[in-house]
Amino acid sequence: MAGAPCAILVLHGPNLNLLGLREPDVYGRVTLEDINRRLRELAAQRGAALRIAQSNHEGALIDAIHDARAWAHGILINPGGLTHTSVALRDAISAIALPCVEVHLSNVHKREPFRHHSFISPVAVGVIAGFGWRSYTLGLTALLDILAEQSHNRSDG
Ligand code: DQA
Repeated sequence: MAGAPCAILVLHGPNLNLLGLREPDVYGRVTLEDINRRLRELAAQRGAALRIAQSNHEGALIDAIHDARAWAHGILINPGGLTHTSVALRDAISAIALPCVEVHLSNVHKREPFRHHSFISPVAVGVIAGFGWRSYTLGLTALLDILAEQSHNRSDG
């Protein structure tokens, strides 16, 4: 496991590679590259290291989560449509037992009923939805704060 600095895996699920083009009324005009740049800036300010990946394939996301066991302290994930369908993704997150924050650009609870259920939320530390690209920066801030608090508590004890 990596020591300091804090290392975070950022995972974007299916179709998020099309951000900026895809349903801009729902997801905005910001591209995935823009979001990644904002996350890298925030991570640099906070002294954290990021690895960022996007995949349209459930198995590739699961492999990346398994791999994170070896080096990451936490995971920031937008599972896209797999949020509402994937027991396997949920099991992967649960299996590696790293703190995970789930984010969504859109407010999934304001949308179709099939988006109201998440298989991921019960194994996430928390969920942020509905703030567009800011959901990601809010999520990363929350994750880094939680990890800092945990390491502070460990050094106290
Ligand atoms: C999403 C919400 C999901 O319901 C949808 O399938 C996505 C994007 C979001 O970021 O708002 O692909 O995760």
